[in-house]
Amino acid sequence: MGRQSIITIDGPAGAGKSTAAKRLARAMGFHYLDSGALYRAVAWETLRRRVDVQDSAALSAFFADFKPHIAFDEAGFRVLIDGREVAQELRTPEVSQASSRVAAVPQVRRWVTACLRNLARNRGVVAEGRDMGTVVFPEAEVKFFLTADLATRAARRRDEWQSGQIGIDLEGTMRELATRDRQDETRTVSPLKAPVGAIHIDTTSMTPEEVTSACLAVIRDALARTG
Ligand code: C5P
Repeated sequence: MGRQSIITIDGPAGAGKSTAAKRLARAMGFHYLDSGALYRAVAWETLRRRVDVQDSAALSAFFADFKPHIAFDEAGFRVLIDGREVAQELRTPEVSQASSRVAAVPQVRRWVTACLRNLARNRGVVAEGRDMGTVVFPEAEVKFFLTADLATRAARRRDEWQSGQIGIDLEGTMRELATRDRQDETRTVSPLKAPVGAIHIDTTSMTPEEVTSACLAVIRDALARTG
């Protein structure tokens, strides 16, 4: 596996993808790609500009003019719109739900896919999302599919939100995740599913350190095989 290798991590929300992807990127000196942040950025900006994402002409006009700046490396993935970093804004429950709705629109998926492939050109990346190993980077050297039970995923998401001062209860979070899972798994374009050949890891009772070590062991194995 060379300097331009691609590692993908797919799975539902709260399965531990972001934490694992960032840690792996850091360990390997690769760039981290957060595809969900791009869907969230499209959701946030179309909500703000009141663009009807079902109207393909309106969406084309929107994309002709939507040029977020992406700052990314092994430590993080930041989206800047109109020169301002949007981070917390993208993580609200409202934008989470909207991102899952816009993600079902083929035109939006094409824009995000092109953006990610462009960012990955000529560099090693760890890319996380729902269709990284199936659609965006089918050629990836190593593919992971992370899962965890719904209650654990909801508790992780709630803790993240609370640390960001967005108060939310556990039941509400479970409902929000279950709705998003259903939308993501049942849409016709690029539904969330495990890529063929992916290594499955159930992170329910694992610490982030354990998940990272398990992934690194698989990658080292792949490295040894390919020289
Ligand atoms: O990963 P994150 O929770 O930030 O993603 C937000 C939403 O974006 C997901 O619920 C999903 O609908 C969509 N998404 C997607 N494909 C990806 C990444 C995210 O459809 N590769």
